[in-house]
Order: sequence, then structure tokens, then C-alpha cells
Amino acid sequence: MTAVTEATLALKLTERINRIEPSATMAVVAEADKLRQQGIDVVDFGAGEPHFATPQHIKDAGVAAIQGNFTKYTAVSGTTELRDAIAHRHAVDFDSDYRREEVIASTGGKQALFNAVQVLVDHGDEVILPVPYWVSFKDIVRYAGGNCVLLETDEAKGFRVTAEMIERLITPRTKLIILNSPSNPSGAVMSPEDLTEVVRLAHERGIWVLSDECYVYLNYTMKRFSIGALREFRERMVIIGSLSKTYAMTGWRLGYALGPSAVVAAMNKLQSQSTSNPTSIVQKAAVAALKGPQQCVPDMRAEYINLRDHVVNGLRAIPGVKCTLPEGAFYTYPNVSAFFGRSGVKSASDLAGKLLREAHVATVPGEGFGTRDHIRVSYATSVAELDRGLERLRKFLAAL
Ligand SMILES: Cc1ncc(COP(=O)(O)O)c(C=O)c1O
Repeated sequence: MTAVTEATLALKLTERINRIEPSATMAVVAEADKLRQQGIDVVDFGAGEPHFATPQHIKDAGVAAIQGNFTKYTAVSGTTELRDAIAHRHAVDFDSDYRREEVIASTGGKQALFNAVQVLVDHGDEVILPVPYWVSFKDIVRYAGGNCVLLETDEAKGFRVTAEMIERLITPRTKLIILNSPSNPSGAVMSPEDLTEVVRLAHERGIWVLSDECYVYLNYTMKRFSIGALREFRERMVIIGSLSKTYAMTGWRLGYALGPSAVVAAMNKLQSQSTSNPTSIVQKAAVAALKGPQQCVPDMRAEYINLRDHVVNGLRAIPGVKCTLPEGAFYTYPNVSAFFGRSGVKSASDLAGKLLREAHVATVPGEGFGTRDHIRVSYATSVAELDRGLERLRKFLAAL
């Protein structure tokens, strides 16, 4: 298609769809797939998903749901069994006390997040978003008509976000603060104290806090914490959760939101006019995940910690690469700015593109996450695969 017809077509699409970009991480996955289809052996550090299989008892529950004909519509926000299981699991693990009508199950955490933002953010509202941010936050806010106010953080301080830093950005238009701890892409974890101070500040100022806790079980510090424990501030908080990373269930698409019943009812209304209920059989599998044996969660977490240590040591051993120690999720966010200016590489995008095309290692450039000097390396893979990729990266950088 020529640029002219493309532009003409774009003019006919809505203003709101032209406001957003396709996900940068999905673009990398697509490019790496293309190379693989040509028979090229790509080491994949791009994907944002566990390398583990979904635990057997969860898969069995999905199969049993199909065999038992649990294949019809359910309530839009999920079955009462599932919503109770979500609330119960969260209460046990994080000392929250959400009731059934304060829970909605959605088709992945991403849909819960999208719906929450559509419900909370109006045209012209400001949303405070710490940098680096997960790619979708910015576009989801823009789609709702909001303006992101970016909160720059300091890599030397582990990308820390504090209430003081947020307070400086608050204006009369501030509607929402988005938090994501552990963070995708940096792996940074906010301390319970910092989280508490931000939530307290937001509550005092009448601002919403949207806490994306999709990686809350992959917090490698000894202080695993959800803002759900801060019950006294609950009327200003919405929590987004997901089974994707916790139980290695990315393809099943099951996430949820916890929040005030009026917010959840509004999200339910929106969901009722779009996708309706999450898939019925997935809901049964999700109940098995939430109510069944939990040992898979610490087992996977322990493995991620080993992988984290392995990849961080490997990256730090490469001359010129700087790497903070991630305290959660399964990403490292090395600073590669020392290589800019070599062999025509001017940016993280240039570097990640060249790395993929020439050394066949897929990573995600930092620009998609709001920083220029980094690439995101996912270590949700085997030690052998990490070693293969690290070796290619080392050789590639040495030759730049
Ligand atoms: C920070 C963050 N939030 C939300 C999601 C959405 O996950 P899902 O829709 O699979 O639950 C992801 C997925 O990568 C993520 O990294």
C-alpha cells in the first residue's frame, strides 16, 4: 500500500485510534518470528512471559470444564466461585478484605487495566506515570483522552519512586497515579513504606491510585506487599492482578481488578458492552489455580531468582554494560548507552535492531518504555538459553 493511500485511510479512522501506537513489545515478537520463519535460530530475550508450562492441576481443571460442558456464558464479571476465589486468595496472601462486588475478572490483566482507565480517566485529565513504564500504560491513558505526566526516576537509585517525587507533579488536573511494582521493564520494587506514602498522599488529595500488581508474586525481596493491605485508603485504590505470570498462564487470559464497588460496577458495564465474561473454561482453571496447591508459585519464583542472578552477572561481565539489580518480575534493564556512536548505532532502538538482525538475539529497546539508554532483557528462559544469548551479545558488543 502506498503512503498516500495509507494516509488517506488513516484520515478515515477515528481520532482516538490514531492517538495510540501498537505495542513495542509485540513488534519485537513479530520481527523475531519473521526471522524464525526463515529458519534463523533466534535467542529470545524479548518475550514477556514465563517459560514454564501451566501447572498440571490447572490444565486438568480446564479440560474437566470442557468435558463437563462448562462452556456457556457466565456473569460478565466472572462466576461467583471465581470472584470469591480471587478475593480469598488476595486476603490470605496480602491481608486485604475485598468483597465479591469489589472484584471483576477480565480477559487478562490488560483488559482489567484498560477498563479501569476508561472508567477513571476523562478527556484532559492528567495521569502521573513513573518512567520507565510498561508500554501499554501510556497508550491506554491516551485512548481514554488523558495526558500522561511522566515522572523521571534515577537509575542510580534503582528507579525509586517516592511520594515526594509524585507530589511535585500534582496539579488540579491530576486524576490518577499509576504504580507498577515489581516493574516491567526495570524489575524495580517499591518498598511497602514508599507504596504506603504514595497511597496516603493520593487519598489526601482525592486522586486515584491504579496499582498494577501483575508481578506481585514475583517480588524477590522479603517484603511482598500489595496496597490491598492499606484498607483505610481503599476508596481511592484500584488493584490490577493477573494469573498470567503467577501461574504461567499467559495464553489463558485471566486477570482481575479489585476496587470500590462503584468502579467495579462501571467496569462491568463497559465489559458487558465489549467482551462479556472471560472464557468459561478458563474461569474453572483459574479457580483451580487460586484454590489449589500454591507450591508452584514459590518454586517458579526461586527459579527466576537463579536466572536473575545468572543474567545480571553475565551482563555485568560485559565491558560497557551497566545493570541495576532487579528485585522482581523477570526482566533486566541494562544501560547500553556506552555503545552509542559506534558502528552507526545512535540509540537503543538501533542497537536492539542490529542485535536482532546481525546476532539474532531479540530484546526490546528502551524507547518503548520511555528511556533512551536501555534495552529490556527477559530472563524467563533456561540457563542454557541465557548463556547462548549472553555469548552472542558479548561478541556483538565487542565488535561494535
Ligand atoms: C506490567 C504489566 N501489566 C499487565 C500485563 C498484562 O498481563 P495479562 O494481560 O497477560 O494479564 C503485563 C503483561 O506483560 C505487564 O507486564
